[in-house]
Amino acid sequence: FMLKEIYEQSSTLRNTLRLQDQFLELMTEFLDRAGEVFLVAAGTSYHACLAASYMFSKLAFLATHPIIASEFVEQHGKSVNIDSTILFVSQSGETADTLAALDHARLRASTILGLTNVIGSTLTRLSRVYVCQQSGPEIGVAATKTFTSQLSVLAQLALRLAKRRGKVSHVEIEFLEKKLQQIPDIAEDILRTQPGKIKQLAKKYCDKPCFFYLGRGISSATALEGRLKLLEIAYVPAIAYPAGESKHGPISLIETGFPLVFICPRDETHKMVVSNIMEMKARGASIIIVCEEGDEELKRLADDCIEVPKGVPEILSPIVYVIPLQLFAYYMALEQ
Ligand code: M6R
Repeated sequence: FMLKEIYEQSSTLRNTLRLQDQFLELMTEFLDRAGEVFLVAAGTSYHACLAASYMFSKLAFLATHPIIASEFVEQHGKSVNIDSTILFVSQSGETADTLAALDHARLRASTILGLTNVIGSTLTRLSRVYVCQQSGPEIGVAATKTFTSQLSVLAQLALRLAKRRGKVSHVEIEFLEKKLQQIPDIAEDILRTQPGKIKQLAKKYCDKPCFFYLGRGISSATALEGRLKLLEIAYVPAIAYPAGESKHGPISLIETGFPLVFICPRDETHKMVVSNIMEMKARGASIIIVCEEGDEELKRLADDCIEVPKGVPEILSPIVYVIPLQLFAYYMALEQ
């Protein structure tokens, strides 16, 4: 089922582009009016929230707080109130930690918004407004297609909010809207061209006892998700960090042959990631890079490289850069 669901992503992403306009618009209005915004979820859905916090900030200039559901009450329980707007993201709409956070927020009279895949779930019943992501049932334990759909919905919300707030030029918004429409085709391209190579990588690295995933900016969320897939499915311990933070301790783990997966789209962080890669290379790490097609600078530094089609804008990059990582986890599991 995991493989089937990974391959479904080009069509689920198409479905996610056909959501009901009125609910997206209503949710955008709530976000626009909000005093403070929290994005609350568990596991993979939390990683979607983390990526979304970059989208909202970069496009709509809206600061949001992505919070792990099981920490929400401890961290913000006393401060959330009637002025807080909380977007709960849950594929199933039934995750106990997420619903516990939601119950607390309801008691404090906060505005509850929901993003879920299951109509009729508790999350849809308790939300002031909800959006259904339309990914179809997810049977596999590992969340795959539902993650990329969540990201697509969250990007649509961020774009709508940016438009409403007039923070970004209409030329840029139109460019990003057009790119979002192309994402399903890009996903299809990756699924057609990369699996053979990723299978070979899994064979090459399957004996490694531990992996390191690194990315900067929005790609730090992609790194966390890639790492979660690997440990959840292949039972291989893995660590993920924002690349800039890796030198504050975790770098001491690196020795000759330690496998490092860098997620490195050609965005504003590119130059800094190159210097992180050189740092790790100097310590003898084996460098696997997920980068843009034809990024010769990175290809020269990499031991192995997975290429993603050109021209994916930064805020949409997690939707496509995560797909090779899902496949890598799947093939690594088969090798164990
Ligand atoms: O249904 P939810 O989105 O609320 O589920 C949250 C997590 O339990 C879920 O994403 C879990 O982490 C996945 N199995 C990860 O692949």
